[in-house]
Amino acid sequence: MSSTVLVGTQWGDEGKGKICDLIAGQFDCVVRYQGGNNAGHTIQVGERKYGLHQVPSGIMYPDCISVIGNGCVVNPAVLLEEIDMFERDGISTKNLKVSGNAHIIMPYHMDLDGAYEQLLGDHSIGTTKRGIGPCYQDKMARIGLRMQDMLDEGVFREKLGRALDRVNPQLEKIFGLATYTVEQICADYLPMAERLRPYIAETGRLLNDMVDAGKKILFEGAQATLLDIDYGTYPYVTSSNCTAGGAVTGTGVGMKNMDRVLGIMKAYITRVGEGPMPTELAYETPEGHTLTEQGYEYGVTTGRRRRCGWFDGVIANYAARVNGLTDIALTKLDVLGAFDTIKVCVAYEVAGERYTTVPEHEEHFANAVPVFEELPGWKCDISACRSFDELPAPAQAYVRRVEELAGTKVSFVSVGPDREQTIVRDWK
Ligand code: GDP
Ligand code: IMO
Ligand code: MG
Repeated sequence: MSSTVLVGTQWGDEGKGKICDLIAGQFDCVVRYQGGNNAGHTIQVGERKYGLHQVPSGIMYPDCISVIGNGCVVNPAVLLEEIDMFERDGISTKNLKVSGNAHIIMPYHMDLDGAYEQLLGDHSIGTTKRGIGPCYQDKMARIGLRMQDMLDEGVFREKLGRALDRVNPQLEKIFGLATYTVEQICADYLPMAERLRPYIAETGRLLNDMVDAGKKILFEGAQATLLDIDYGTYPYVTSSNCTAGGAVTGTGVGMKNMDRVLGIMKAYITRVGEGPMPTELAYETPEGHTLTEQGYEYGVTTGRRRRCGWFDGVIANYAARVNGLTDIALTKLDVLGAFDTIKVCVAYEVAGERYTTVPEHEEHFANAVPVFEELPGWKCDISACRSFDELPAPAQAYVRRVEELAGTKVSFVSVGPDREQTIVRDWK
C-alpha cells in the first residue's frame, strides 16, 4: 500500500468525498491540495451524511491526520463552522492542521467574484461566488494574505492595508461597491484567528516528516480535470490546478512519494456552471431527467441543478493521460440501472475531423459532436451488489468498456452513496 493522489476526472462531483472517506482508514493522513469552499464533498456512513467544503474527507477516522495544504484557499468562517459541526457531533478535530501558507478568502474576494460574473453577462462562468477566483488572483498578484498572517495582528493590519489600497479603488470606482477598512475586517477576522491558531501549522514539514517516517498519505483533490486552470475547458474552469500535479505544489511533498493516482469517474457526466459539455442531455429529455433525478444531481455547495449527459470516453482517456491515472473508481453505476440501453461517447467529430482525445483549441471542443456507441442496459437495482461477479453481465461489460476507453483499470465500482455500497475489485 502506498501514498495515493485522488482526483476528479470530469467536471467535479464524481463522488470524491465518498471514495476518499472509504479508503482514508488505510492512510495516516489525508491532505487537501487545492481549492476552497467551492468544493462540496459528500460522505455518508449509515445515517450520518456530511457535505464537506474545506475539511478533508479523512476527518471521520480519529487517528488520521487531516491537512489543508498550502495550495488551498481558506474561508475562516466556513472552516470554523465545519470544525464546530464536527465537534458537536463528537468527531474530534484535534488532528486537523491548516497550512500557514494557504491564502485567506476575504469578504472583498466574494464581492469581486459576484461583480466579475455580472460584468461577464452572457459569458459568465457560473462560479460558486465563494471568492475563489479573486483570492487566487491576489495570490498570483502577490498581495494575498495567508493564514500565518492572521497570527500576528501587526502583520495582518499592515498587509491588509496594502491589499485594500489596491482592492478598494476597484470596488468603488469600477463596480460602485462598498469599500472596506482595516478596522472592519480586523473586527471579524482577528477573533477567528485566535480560534484557528491551534490548527495553523507548517504542514509542508509535517507531511514530509510523515513521509520520512514511512507514513502513507492520501492527497484529496477538489473540483476536477476539466475544471483545472491549465487542462480544463478554459475559461469555464476554476482557478487552481485540480489535476494530480497540483498535489505536489499544493502540499510540498515530492512526486517520488506519490505512487498511485486514483481517478474518480462518474458512470455518466455532470457539470454545474457554464461551458461546453459535448454529451449533455437537456433536463427536458427523458434521459436527462432520469439521470438528474435518479442520480439526485443537485450541488452540495450551491444547490444548483447539475447538467447531465452520457459517459464521455474521450474525456476519460484525456483525464487518464493528464493525471497519469493508475486506477479508476467508477461511481454511480447504480443510476444507469434505469435505462434499456446506455450511450457512451467514443469520439468527437469536429469540422469533418475525428478526435479520440480532447481537442486543445477551445472552439473545437465547444463544437465537438459526440460519436456514440450504444450498450445494453441491465434494468435492475445493483445497489446491493458487493462483488464484481454479482453484477449483471451488461453492467460488467459497461465497466470493461470504460476501462478500454480510459486505458486504465477500474479498481472500485460504487453502487450507492454509502461507504458500504462499494465493490472493491483491485485495491490493496
Ligand atoms: P464530490 O464533490 O466528488 O465529492 O461529489 P459530491 O459529493 O458533490 O456528489 C456526489 C453525490 O453522489 C453525493 O450526493 C454522494 O452521496 C452521491 N454518491 C456517491 N457515490 C454514489 C454512488 O455510487 N451511487 C449513488 N447513487 N450516489 C453516489
Ligand atoms: P467538487 O470538489 C463542481 C465550478 C463552478 C464553476 C467553475 C468555477 O465538489 O467537485 P469557482 O467558484 O471555482 O470559481 O467556479 O467551477 N465548480 C465546481 N463544479 N464541483 C465542484 O467541486 C466545483 N467547484 C467549482 O460551478 O463552473
Ligand atoms: Mg461536489
